[in-house]
Amino acid sequence: MKRPLIVANWKMNPQNSKDAFNLAGTITGGVKKLALDIVFCVPFVYIPQLVALDNVFIGAQDCFWEQNGAFTGEISAKMLRNLGCSYVILGHSERRKYLGETVEMIQKKVKAALKEHLIPIICIGEDIEKEISLIFEGVTSEEMKHLVLTFEPEWAISTQMNSKPASRQEVKDAIGKMRTMLVKMFDERVALETPILYGGTVNSSDVQRYIDKGVTQGVLVGDSSLDPKEFIALAKKLV
Ligand code: PGA
Repeated sequence: MKRPLIVANWKMNPQNSKDAFNLAGTITGGVKKLALDIVFCVPFVYIPQLVALDNVFIGAQDCFWEQNGAFTGEISAKMLRNLGCSYVILGHSERRKYLGETVEMIQKKVKAALKEHLIPIICIGEDIEKEISLIFEGVTSEEMKHLVLTFEPEWAISTQMNSKPASRQEVKDAIGKMRTMLVKMFDERVALETPILYGGTVNSSDVQRYIDKGVTQGVLVGDSSLDPKEFIALAKKLV
């Protein structure tokens, strides 16, 4: 079993680089001796100043599928890698909902990230079979060693109206389905070794509910990752 992994999805927060630096600095100070891996997925503009931090990996929240060219407003996987980024969240439900991102686009982004040795953290919603079969079409077993999956049902995200966190059983069932798909598309080894996280209203008081050896490797945290005390408490419960 690999070390637990916590992905902090800062979304479009905070509002300036001083606050970003303080947030990241306070958290890294509080988690430095813990035997787990932490990734801060931050707005693009904060990446250059945060990649220098110790004890933490830096990730982005999206990338484009082409490497360069006339794609106004887009950021390529290569640019992120050149900045020192290690991870990138792909297919988050907020991008699907507000920007019309499709599974086909996510598939192209995954390929682009893998090509640049950026580790994609791929969000899978409720249509598990369809999403996995399309997103991983053309991905090799070797490439599967370099990515992370997250079960993130939209209804569990804290900012959704009437959201509710998934139960331990719902997470277990969904992740079981994901691993069955991976056996079908690849093999037992890929199904067992691909890290799978859960995301959706995770906080320090319920995080242990989602950590199940052999089922989940960690969590993806939105809102609670913006409060250093809360995030440090959450991280301590995972070791
Ligand atoms: P949440 O967000 O922890 O605030 O529910 C998770 C996510 O959307 O990535």
